[in-house]
Amino acid sequence: MANQRLRALLRWTKWADWAIAAVGFTIIIFVLTFFFDSSSTDGAASSVNLPASDLVDLTLLHNAEDRGALCLDGSLPGYHFQKGFGSGSNNWLLHIEGGGWCNTIESCSTRKTTALGSSNFMERQVSFSGILSSDPSQNPDFFSWNKVKIRYCDGASFAGRPESEFKNGTNLFFRGQLIWEALMDELLSVGMSNAKQAFLTGCSAGGLAAVIHCDDFRERLPQHATVKCLADASFFLDESDVQGNRTMRSFYDDVFHLQGVAKSLDRNCLSRMGNSRCLFPREFIKNIRTPVFIVNPAYDFWQMYQILRATGKHVD
Ligand SMILES: *[C@@H]1O[C@H](CO)[C@@H](O)[C@H](O)[C@H]1NC(C)=O
Ligand SMILES: *[C@@H]1O[C@H](CO)[C@@H](O)[C@H](O)[C@H]1NC(C)=O
Repeated sequence: MANQRLRALLRWTKWADWAIAAVGFTIIIFVLTFFFDSSSTDGAASSVNLPASDLVDLTLLHNAEDRGALCLDGSLPGYHFQKGFGSGSNNWLLHIEGGGWCNTIESCSTRKTTALGSSNFMERQVSFSGILSSDPSQNPDFFSWNKVKIRYCDGASFAGRPESEFKNGTNLFFRGQLIWEALMDELLSVGMSNAKQAFLTGCSAGGLAAVIHCDDFRERLPQHATVKCLADASFFLDESDVQGNRTMRSFYDDVFHLQGVAKSLDRNCLSRMGNSRCLFPREFIKNIRTPVFIVNPAYDFWQMYQILRATGKHVD
């Protein structure tokens, strides 16, 4: 039953895709024409004219080398920081970039030759838009806050552990948890320790990282601070694909074992289920003590293709 409805829905979405793409394209052109804005917070600084202040430099994590907090390829992790001003001076918004996960030696080895696995390939500047914009008309709640875009380069939502690295010449660093810790210490040292409000956000795999680390984030900030988290398009479903295979579950299982992420996951969930299912937000979100916002489209494009595998493509 459900499967039949799903198939009908997926057939429908093939046509809907074109309609959505056409409308989306029109909107993008409109936005570009009238506001000279960037259409993506994740893209490289594009050829569109952006106000200089919205291009924010990449900072490599200063304390990372000593602590062994390294990207998949062994390079230093990075972030982009724009200082807050006025009423936002003591408020901090962190946004963790998304980009899927790598689940095998092969896929992690490919990833380390990209910006998602190495700072050697990261853009030196990115434009801050959307929730990172400093334009009050676009971002009325957070425009004046201290804003940090955290680059994602470990391939396991900042939950990998060095104990899982191969000692046989497979040069892959599984240091996501260490990156998270080094990054927190650095941001606390440049003013976040005085935060009155702090908001940990992320998109996709970055949103998963935000919910995985939400309570830890809360604990690192002053007790009197208001702290919340937000996961955007990160409510990944533990569902079978259209062929009835548990593609996503087995993919997460691979990530879980390859990078040894168990120690970074919710203990309650692990003692209940004991496995990689604890990477699915529905299994641990209720245990998070800090307020969490979930933003997810009803028809999540990524999940349609990668979890339900509407086109038979693989997750990557
Ligand atoms: C290292 O060990 C892993 C796991 O046993 C194996 O898959 C991989 O091919 C090995 N790499 C090398 C370079 O021998
Ligand atoms: C998925 O399911 C189909 C049919 O149930 C099966 O033939 C196929 O081998 C499965 N694919 C994978 C990758 O397990």
